[in-house]
Amino acid sequence: MKKITATVLGCGNRGQAYADYTFSHPEELEIVSVIDIDNHAMNFAKERYSVKQENVFKCLEDFLAKKIECDIVINATQDPTHYVTTMQLLNAGYNVLLEKPVTANPTELLDIERLAKEKGLKVIVCHVLRYAPVYKNVKKILNSGRIGEIISIEANEHVGLAHCIESFIRGPWKSEDECGSSFLLAKCCHDLDLLCWLNNGTKPKSVVSFGSRSNFVTKKRPSDATEFCYNCPHVTTCLYSAIKVHLEYQMFPFQTYAELVKKYDKIAEDISQEVKYEYLKTSEFGRCAYYDRNLIDRQSVNIEFENGSIVNFALIAGTPRADRYFHIVGTKGEIEGKFDDKKISIRHIDNSPNKYDMVEEIIDYDSQIIVNEKYGGHGGGDYAIMHDLVRYLNGEGETISLTNIEDSINGHFCVYAADESRKTGKVISFNEFMKEKS
Ligand SMILES: NC(=O)c1ccc[n+]([C@@H]2O[C@H](COP(=O)([O-])OP(=O)(O)OC[C@H]3O[C@@H](n4cnc5c(N)ncnc54)[C@H](O)[C@@H]3O)[C@@H](O)[C@H]2O)c1
Repeated sequence: MKKITATVLGCGNRGQAYADYTFSHPEELEIVSVIDIDNHAMNFAKERYSVKQENVFKCLEDFLAKKIECDIVINATQDPTHYVTTMQLLNAGYNVLLEKPVTANPTELLDIERLAKEKGLKVIVCHVLRYAPVYKNVKKILNSGRIGEIISIEANEHVGLAHCIESFIRGPWKSEDECGSSFLLAKCCHDLDLLCWLNNGTKPKSVVSFGSRSNFVTKKRPSDATEFCYNCPHVTTCLYSAIKVHLEYQMFPFQTYAELVKKYDKIAEDISQEVKYEYLKTSEFGRCAYYDRNLIDRQSVNIEFENGSIVNFALIAGTPRADRYFHIVGTKGEIEGKFDDKKISIRHIDNSPNKYDMVEEIIDYDSQIIVNEKYGGHGGGDYAIMHDLVRYLNGEGETISLTNIEDSINGHFCVYAADESRKTGKVISFNEFMKEKS
């Protein structure tokens, strides 16, 4: 197998998650070039992947001017830059591994798909959950026909409280206006992609959705609470206390303290607690969680497919346990599981003579999950997407999980249609909606 050469565009958290595959498999992947508008991120990636100075760039235009050769560019910039940068890369003849969500704009999504097709290039979307052993095996079981035709899928994503506060109440995705993505698009374009992929013997027909921001709102704020947590009378008892969540617990310090990381040119772990405390006195990360922002904190999505099968999905922000649940009912049986349990149950009715009993098989996928210790990895999905990608680029064909852009269209459009339904109160006809946006 030929070693795949890659460039990382956007060397933050996700860029590293994919590029770090080179540490476990240096014979399969080499990072030959890095690009980042931020000096700290650029230099960090240069050192981390031992990239030659002449292949390190501060902007995409400089990289394109140099005509660097590589098999793929990993585009892990933030949501609003995905479209422009991917179009530039495709126009210059590069294959792209593109972070999700592709874009918040349906027309842009179709533009990327069209240009990739025109140029004969690959755009692989980072729907990493499809590659995770749990979902990959669910898909294989569905394909085998063991539970018959899908009748219904119930699923949810519960976003754990600390992650929710870190990313969606105070962090980069706290406001649709700022990050360009709705909560459903930022967090659950994975889930709606999975639902369309698992049920891809048919196509979405109608979508309806409800949702609101009802918990993290000013009217729920104690009357004596202050704007910032550090001097609030509730600082030690509040469930959302910034001092508790971001200083004592520190779930994603690289994200909370990104500004300090740039300022001091140090990784977050090497910045003192005193400096972090001072930062939280004025930063958005130190602000009361009840301060109104415009992202919703719950949403339901119902999809009816052309063959009559239905999906019932819920996104809930701020739960004690973070997890994804799914229950797929088919004409011959059912599959149920929780993503983080790494186990699924397959159930049938044993209808042999003198019997009519439920039988259950439980499959544990724990041993199949490979994670790179540096970045955790979406139930093994971050590792597995890279494993499949290097083989795909070597001409070894498509795996069951492959997330080519054309296969991401329905999932993204279900998100767009759900948000349209939530805002307008209408049931959205999938085909009409797609036609309107094309
Ligand atoms: N697949 C997943 O499960 C998953 C999980 C989390 C985040 N994401 C997505 O991954 C993307 C990146 O998120 P992140 O947490 O790594 O963000 P990040 O802020 O840590 O990294 C983004 C990097 O891109 C750089 N950058 C921004 N614009 C640039 C440009 N025009 N040219 C070059 N560099 C540029 C920034 O300086 C930064 O270093 C986002 O789109 C996010 O929604 C996906």
